[in-house]
Amino acid sequence: MTINTDAKVVMLEHSEAKVSLYGIYLAKYLNILSRVPSVQKIFLFDLMCGEGIYDNGGKGSPIIALQTIKNHYLANNQACPNIQVWFNDKGMSQIEKGISKVSRVKSYVDPIHVELPSNVIIDYFMEDYDQIHMRALQLIQRTPNSKSLFFIDPYGYKEITPNHIKDTLIGGDSEALLFLPISHMYRFAAKAIESPFPGSAPLENFLRELFGAKQPKFQSPLDFVEQIKTQFRAFLRAMHIYVDTFTIERDDSNVYCLFFFTSHVRGFEKMLETKWDLDSERGQGYRLQQGPQLFSAIEIAGYPAKLYDFIYASRRTNSDIYLFGLENGFLPTHSNRILQGWLETRLDFERLALDSKPLRSNNTYIGNKERSVAFQFRR
Ligand SMILES: C[S@@+](CC[C@H](N)C(=O)[O-])C[C@H]1O[C@@H](n2cnc3c(N)ncnc32)[C@H](O)[C@@H]1O
Repeated sequence: MTINTDAKVVMLEHSEAKVSLYGIYLAKYLNILSRVPSVQKIFLFDLMCGEGIYDNGGKGSPIIALQTIKNHYLANNQACPNIQVWFNDKGMSQIEKGISKVSRVKSYVDPIHVELPSNVIIDYFMEDYDQIHMRALQLIQRTPNSKSLFFIDPYGYKEITPNHIKDTLIGGDSEALLFLPISHMYRFAAKAIESPFPGSAPLENFLRELFGAKQPKFQSPLDFVEQIKTQFRAFLRAMHIYVDTFTIERDDSNVYCLFFFTSHVRGFEKMLETKWDLDSERGQGYRLQQGPQLFSAIEIAGYPAKLYDFIYASRRTNSDIYLFGLENGFLPTHSNRILQGWLETRLDFERLALDSKPLRSNNTYIGNKERSVAFQFRR
């Protein structure tokens, strides 16, 4: 028996990893936003939404999204925030001849949708991505007190440029998850910049918009991810956007990456939490073949040493350390564990209440916005 490995027809492992990260993040996103009274509408845009369910039964992003919304509804006393979902795909199904991908998605989504309240609205479109994306942005602009999540999952990267991501995030109320085929981009990157060839224009534009006149050199697919992330951070700095990545790696020629963009530090923390949920070893990304766990997650990344240098250089507050941890890919709980260890074992390490309130033993208040606490090494 031959096994079908065409990602357009069957759901492969890396796509499953991608949609599970999306689903876990969406659940956290709904949980937070449904508790913010000022948020009156949540938009979810999946504008290249695919087939719905694949030939091997694999569930695509629209099904994962609807099931996540339904779980939220059931877990919250049958209550849902106002949600509007747009599913768009311009393609015809490659699984069922003669029907469009969105009609197929609708046929799978409808049975879940009927179990949800009427304030969950779903619209289906069969338009070109650029056009529908523009209409989505107009809709957001017209809707005050709304938040939006864009799941951008193209086959390649032709439609996507860094400026396109910038436009998507304008206004500060949108977040985006962008999936990119890294091995493929890495393989052609140097040539696309140095001696463009037919078909290389989208990759060349993508890299030029990010790197400007610089001639980047990439050592490996993972180095490519790191450099793209760093450049995206610089590119979006003026908009105060946090950028993070989740790498999905089967081998060197099958590396993919979900890039995550948000202007909200809590959203950034939730994405990190999602990564740690999926990859409790390192929080970096998903490897399809897991190796043995020889060291603890924190030791591998050298985070205690980094945190030590950060605090040794200057007295830091709980809020400085919260952000420092997140920017290095670590959660408040990781920073907390390290600080607690030092408080218990090091005589030269101390914490001080800057807000004159009493300090509870064993509490570092990392991530607690109500408290102002400093940490320092006595010298
Ligand atoms: C990788 S698939 C999406 C998979 C989907 N997220 C899932 O989980 O099943 C990309 C989809 O984008 C659609 N697509 C590609 N270019 C498009 C464009 N310019 N406008 C609209 N849809 C497009 C394709 O038809 C394809 O279904």
